[in-house]
Amino acid sequence: MSSQRETIGVIGTGYVGLVTAAGFAELGNEVWCIDIDAGKIARLQRGEIPIYEPGLEDLVAKHRDRLHFSTDIADALEHARLLFVAVGTPPTYSGDADLSAVHAVVGAMPASDGHALVMKSTVPVGTGESIKRIFREQGKDEFRYVSCPEFLKEGSAVKDFLEPDRVVVGDDGDWAGDAVVDLYAPLNAPLVRTDIASAEMIKLAANAFLATKISFINEIANVCEVTGANVIEVAKGIGLDDRIGPKFLQAGVGFGGSCFPKDVTALKQLAGNSGYHFQLLNAVIEVNELQKRRVMAKLEKHLGSLVGKNVALLGLAFKPNTDDMREATSLVLSARLQAAGANVRAYDPIAEGEARHLMPGLAFADDTISAVSGADATVLVTEWDEFRNMDLQAVAGAMTGNVLIDGRNALDPDAVRAAGLVYEGIGRS
Ligand SMILES: NC(=O)c1ccc[n+]([C@@H]2O[C@H](COP(=O)([O-])OP(=O)(O)OC[C@H]3O[C@@H](n4cnc5c(N)ncnc54)[C@H](O)[C@@H]3O)[C@@H](O)[C@H]2O)c1
Repeated sequence: MSSQRETIGVIGTGYVGLVTAAGFAELGNEVWCIDIDAGKIARLQRGEIPIYEPGLEDLVAKHRDRLHFSTDIADALEHARLLFVAVGTPPTYSGDADLSAVHAVVGAMPASDGHALVMKSTVPVGTGESIKRIFREQGKDEFRYVSCPEFLKEGSAVKDFLEPDRVVVGDDGDWAGDAVVDLYAPLNAPLVRTDIASAEMIKLAANAFLATKISFINEIANVCEVTGANVIEVAKGIGLDDRIGPKFLQAGVGFGGSCFPKDVTALKQLAGNSGYHFQLLNAVIEVNELQKRRVMAKLEKHLGSLVGKNVALLGLAFKPNTDDMREATSLVLSARLQAAGANVRAYDPIAEGEARHLMPGLAFADDTISAVSGADATVLVTEWDEFRNMDLQAVAGAMTGNVLIDGRNALDPDAVRAAGLVYEGIGRS
């Protein structure tokens, strides 16, 4: 199979780049993976995977012969005509996307009529147009450009690559777009082939819609709490409506991660920069920020002042099955707790290494029971299976107090109460 599949380049070997590279290797492609982080490339060359992503290590190991790692972009240019760009586009202080890494890649491209950049990074609408303009200004008119936004979810990224809901290809109807379509053809996914600006907007709109759904159900949960309804029942009842669907209706302590917060803000900024006030997205962001802080009020309801109180956080990653701490709710929550005078001890099965860099002053425990030992209150922040299945009797026995805040509605309230703890979920009155 591999002899019929073309060699490709992937620039940026983070969550998206490495999964994309391993996924195409699984489809039979040789892949040249490029990163400016020499340490990361050295680890990858040794067969070490720098991130935690289920199934990725096995897939990379399975295709070691097809995966080549280098810091030199010339290696990708020599071997591949399609160069997938998967570099970071973090938010700037203004909330706009920082495209400096994208432009570094663009600037490194030579004049060529046989290469194309395939943009996987999430970029503002209009980025493709401006990159094509840069190419023209630099006399690189023949360098092709394709937008191919990525929709994978950390925690299930390998499966998402191999079984995508859809593949979106935005292009100018030339050989490069055709080649990207051919690359993805074995996945038999629905294809949306469109213009570049629409492809860019599909990505931003998808994330903004999902974030809106989360903020919506969180607001419903907050109203449930004051009206006596149960958001779990409400979500089930509305989710069975085909037009609504059951996904992304889990109330909790707010969304985080490397995509939703930044992409929603970037779309809001993009609209604002174009003279349109995107009112709904302002609310989505504000609701999410407030939601992260609502745990404080729940704790104070039971404990009064938090000064000197011991609070255990279970889970730090922005969601289960990843070590990604970017924009994690735990960052805001632990900072708020510490500012309120609480002593915070946290445990996460995977993300501790990342968290230690970001959360100085926080005490870390090696397991659930050590984390909750002596705690006045425990807050479940990330719904790792390990916490869903924890021994509640042992937790209750180790704690000094008896308050358990279930920030993800992951536990059975009756089981928590049966263990002698006071249960507080989100929107479950
Ligand atoms: N993480 C996700 O779940 C996800 C999902 C869909 C889309 N995206 C988008 O994909 C992009 C990448 O996200 P990520 O989470 O993989 O980021 P990441 O930070 O994990 O990885 C980015 C990689 O690019 C490398 N890099 C930076 N500048 C470079 C350059 N000039 N040349 C070569 N390599 C360079 C970095 O060293 C890093 O390894 C972002 O635009 C993001 O919004 C992310």
